Amino acid sequence: VGPKPLAGKNVVVTAGGTVERIDPVRYITNDSSGKMGFAIAEAARDRGASVTLVCGKTDEAPPHGVRVVKVDSALEMREAVMERLSEADLVIKAAAVADYRPARQAASKMKKTAESLTLELVPNPDILLEIGEWREVRGGAAATKPFVIGFAAETTDVEKHALDKLKRKKCDLIVANDVTAEGAGFGSDTNIVTVYGSQGLAEKLPRMSKRAVAERILDLAQAGIASNRPS
Ligand code: PMT
Repeated sequence: VGPKPLAGKNVVVTAGGTVERIDPVRYITNDSSGKMGFAIAEAARDRGASVTLVCGKTDEAPPHGVRVVKVDSALEMREAVMERLSEADLVIKAAAVADYRPARQAASKMKKTAESLTLELVPNPDILLEIGEWREVRGGAAATKPFVIGFAAETTDVEKHALDKLKRKKCDLIVANDVTAEGAGFGSDTNIVTVYGSQGLAEKLPRMSKRAVAERILDLAQAGIASNRPS
């Protein structure tokens, strides 16, 4: 039991990879384990928040004291997140959302033939971008709620791509991880992140447990929420 700085706040966290079905037994996904998002959800819960964890594919055990909404695809994740936005004070998008999905989903198991097979993929909606746009349309320049934090999983030019995502997706903070670094990104128990805000670099963190990263992200979120509060 300690101070509960997020008491009374509704926090939505996304975690895990989305699953984009090809047919009833095959799908496209990615290496996200859900650990980063789960750590954030647990840290927010321990700070007194009411937490909804929207999660895709993961082997992590559902955390107690957190509302868990299981989803499969990016389209399902979008629906689960967007319908909770008006109540949310803080949204943190640690999920690895598939950028594309199969154009068609076969109703029954696809049969093998001697021919080569081309899978047509169509773009998925960008949920983070839609959250930014939703907030802008709803509140104009005064839009401060929810406070929105995105992640950027990068393999090259981390800072450049992260700053581009921060601006384009209209979020308040972006947490960049170089997923090629040892002990960072997908699957590991630790992460190495740099957080950027509209003023540029907010915090560069060394390798630490995902829970410790989560605590630092929430510190920054709390500071952001406090400074956004209309006087
Ligand atoms: O789950 P773990 O194994 O613990 O790994 C953690 C992690 C590497 C998955 C996590 O730290 C991370 O970086 N998550 C974001 C992964 C990702 O999809 O990055 P991106 O650069 O492709 O997307 C940028 C942001 O836009 C993300 O907040 C993502 O949730 C969001 N996005 C992306 C595509 C899309 N269609 N909709 C989105 O909302």
